[in-house]
This record gives sequence, C-alpha cells and structure tokens, in this order.
Amino acid sequence: MIETTTGTTAPHVVLAVTGGIAAYKAVEVMRLLQHAGCDVRVTMTADAERFVGTPTFEALSGHPIADDLYSYPDSAIPHIFLADWADLVLVVPATANVLAKMAAGIGDDCLTTTLIATHCPVLVAAAMNVHMWRNPATQANIEKLLSRGVRFVKPQSGLLACGDIGEGKLAEVEEIAAAALDALNPAQRDMAGMRLVITAGPTHEAIDPVRYIANASTGKMGYAIAREAARRGAAVTLVSGPVGLEAPRDVDVVPVVSAAEMHDAALGAFANADAAICAAAVADYTPAAFATRKLKKGADDLGTLNLVQTADILADLSRTKGGRVVVGFAAETDDLLENAHSKLARKGCDLIVANDVSRPDSTFGADTSRIAFVWPDRTEQLDTLPLDRVAAAICDQVALLVTGGRA
Ligand code: CTP
Repeated sequence: MIETTTGTTAPHVVLAVTGGIAAYKAVEVMRLLQHAGCDVRVTMTADAERFVGTPTFEALSGHPIADDLYSYPDSAIPHIFLADWADLVLVVPATANVLAKMAAGIGDDCLTTTLIATHCPVLVAAAMNVHMWRNPATQANIEKLLSRGVRFVKPQSGLLACGDIGEGKLAEVEEIAAAALDALNPAQRDMAGMRLVITAGPTHEAIDPVRYIANASTGKMGYAIAREAARRGAAVTLVSGPVGLEAPRDVDVVPVVSAAEMHDAALGAFANADAAICAAAVADYTPAAFATRKLKKGADDLGTLNLVQTADILADLSRTKGGRVVVGFAAETDDLLENAHSKLARKGCDLIVANDVSRPDSTFGADTSRIAFVWPDRTEQLDTLPLDRVAAAICDQVALLVTGGRA
C-alpha cells in the first residue's frame, strides 16, 4: 500500500490485460479504479500490445508496463514484485487462452507468471466470441478456476466484434470496477438475514388500452436502495412500477403496472419480511372506469375523467407492521419538513425520507439527492449526495431500526 495525499492507503491493483479486442476497455476500468483511489500497475501480454499500445497504459498508470520477465525498471523479478505488491489482480479482458493457462498453471510470460505467483484475490472479466465462450474446454476451465476461489465478472450477451450475437461481450466497465472495489473492500454484511420489501418507480393508471396517468418518477432511488441492501446481504423483493432500469444483481424484482397491483404485491411480500421501504411514487388517483377500447375524441367524452383514490400502500403496510419496520418517502416542493412530519403521523410509519423535488440536485431523474430523515421526535438533514451514498445512508437507518438500535 502507498500513502495518498489524504493520508489514507491506496489499494494496489495489478491490471492484467490480455489480447482481445476489448483490451481498450481496460483503460476505462483503470481510470474508474484510479478515480476510486486505487494505485494501478499494468501487465500485458504481447498480443494485448497489438490492440492497445503500452504508452497509453504507461502514461495513465504512472508506472512502467510489465511485459517482459527479463526487463522491468522497478524490479529484477517483475512477476514476484507484482504478485507481492498487488491487493487484487484484475484480468481485463481475459481470453479463452489465458483462462486455459490459468486453469493449467502455465506461466509463459510476465502476466501469466504473475497470476501463478500472486496470493491475493484474482478477479477475471472474460471477453471472447460466443462459441469460444461456450466451448466445453472454456467452461471447464472457468469451473476449475471458480472452485479455486477465482472470481468472475460474467460477460454480457450482445453483438460481438466478430458480428456474432451472444454471450461473450465484456461486462460493462462500471460493473467490472464495482466488482474490483468490492473484492478489495468487501461490503459490510450488516443486513444479512434481513428480508426487505422495496417499492420503486411510478405506477401507470390505465384510462383505455393506449392512455394512462403516470408521473415523473424514474425508480432510480428505489433501485439504488435495493442494490445497496442486497450488497449488504439482505434478501430483497423489489416491487417495481414501469421503469427503464436493469434489475439489480441478487434482487427479486416483481414487476407491476398499477397502484392496485403494487399494493397487492407489496402487502403479499411484506407478510414474510422484516421491513418495507416505500420509495415508489404511487398514483393517488386512478380512473373510476377502464374503457376496453380506445376512446375516440369525437364520439367519447374525453374532457372529463372520473377518478377514484387508490389504496395507500404505505399506510396499509404500517397498519399491519406490528413490531416490524416501515419507511416512507415524502417528495415535496414546499414546506418539506412540515409535510414530512404530518405524513409520518398520518401514515403511521417509523421514518420518513424527505426530499425537496423542486431542487435540480434532488428532483426526479437526478443522480443525486438531498434528503432529510424525519423521525417522530427529530430530523436530520443530509448534504446533496450521489444516489448510491443516499441509498447507503437509508440502509444504515433501516438496519438500525430492524435491530432496535438508534443513530
Ligand atoms: N404511497 C403509497 N401508496 C399510495 C400513495 C403514496 O405507498 N397510494 C407512499 C409513497 O410510496 C411514499 C409516501 O406514501 O412513501 C408518500 O407519498 P406521497 O405521494 O409523497 O404522499 P401522498 O400520501 O400521496 O400525499 P400527497 O400527494 O398529498 O403529498
């Protein structure tokens, strides 16, 4: 470890780049890791250097490239030096050939000998043609490496460089960097054993087969909480309205459309849960009648819509909660804390997360939020933070409430 300017120690990552077309994406992974505070050294195979030149990695990493067992400015024995220096060896991209060498224990260059010599965690992001990926030899090698504790970031399906469509495309660089940071600093598992229900996104209230009432919620907040809680070991059921977001890893997503569907799914899941977090922007009203055919503006009366109130999911969960925990949200444009306090009392939940959606840094769709925690007897205002940090703060409070602690 080295000292950073902030006095903390920077984790050491050896980035092992092998010869695939996705090698250029290793540069982005390196930048993400550096932005997260890691010190990165790069080892490359000769084939990798045919895809991306060493000056790129050398200039950006601030270290010489280890690509020759017999010539490395920082050590006479580069593979042992790197193996001892590393807190994590990250292989991006890993070809079928290097997976085979790793599984067989072959070290015939600086990169593969470093992999044999290292005693720290090894994380592999493979990328190759779909048929090479599916080849039984490749799959057997992966099984062997998994059984030895090597971790993998699975490739995605998509259009491959060769024109084939299928599995083998390198995982998103953000996912690889997040997995690397997780391997370096395993998430606290303080939510292990907890079962959570989280509602997220808007609801759509159908008027006729083509029209509906909706709102501006994107679901980002609820999804971020679900992702964080799952990372910390909770079993999460995410009851999600219609959103354009990818399901978070290890989360059970229950897709719903209307407020009535969300109500039934959330109450059903809460029967076996320890806590519920209602982050959804549920429609308060739904059309009194659904037209089974598309309404026509000439023939039908489209100027008047009769609405009826939807059931309040948060209030109904709170009514049945007993000693369990229910957390609600209050997205307001004015009188934030007053409105949040009255919502807390009206709905009977344990905690309200209040945010002022009139602020651009805290509104629907933003990647940051400025929340306040509102309890019956006190409030706590947080700064504007990225959504993942807001989600972590909310999970801290939920974990405390479930275990009976107090901040
Ligand atoms: N909520 C819910 N079911 C509803 C309406 C709201 O579960 N039918 C939940 C939301 O998920 C949120 C909280 O109640 O956690 C507050 O939602 P909000 O829309 O801000 O409050 P409302 O009760 O709808 O009150 P108002 O629209 O008057 O602000």
